[in-house]
Amino acid sequence: MKIRVNTLLTGSILAVSLLSVVSQAAATATVDVYKSPTCGCCAKWVDHMRDHGFTVKTHDVGNKEIRKKSGISESLGSCHTALVNGYAIEGHVPAPDIIRLLQEKPKAIGLAVPDMPHGTPGMEGARSDPYNVLLIKERDEARKDTTIYNRYDPYARKAEQLQPANPEPGQEKSGSVMRLK
Ligand code: CU
Ligand code: CU
Repeated sequence: MKIRVNTLLTGSILAVSLLSVVSQAAATATVDVYKSPTCGCCAKWVDHMRDHGFTVKTHDVGNKEIRKKSGISESLGSCHTALVNGYAIEGHVPAPDIIRLLQEKPKAIGLAVPDMPHGTPGMEGARSDPYNVLLIKERDEARKDTTIYNRYDPYARKAEQLQPANPEPGQEKSGSVMRLK
């Protein structure tokens, strides 16, 4: 019985310390956000970042100048540009991807979600479109030369929910599985 309690304890201590490592990356980072003073979706993205533990300083001066200065090409442009720990973040990039970037510390300019896809943090609404988070490796890299850092696809998730990965025999929808006779 004693052993079991100890194992449980160790397990939960491990879980707690893992969690604090993850949130520390965000908590110690200050994000400078360059945006237009009137942009509603920019403000919502700032809230999303604060909800994930980031300290955010906003600069209501637009983002065209800082985007260019940071080495983000116009083809990757969105409504706001953020600077954090030497990286540039363009557009509605989800906070967990930024936390991962700060942990992995790749040699890169930063991350971008070009334009303003529906369903990104700060752009929530009735509609959700698939989108990619792009890793910009070199200054002024063209959109086609960037690397996909993460992909969000609400349709894929819906399809997964409709069809379990390991359906019990007889649970699959008819016609969806080829049967070996
Ligand atoms: Cu926006
Ligand atoms: Cu914005």
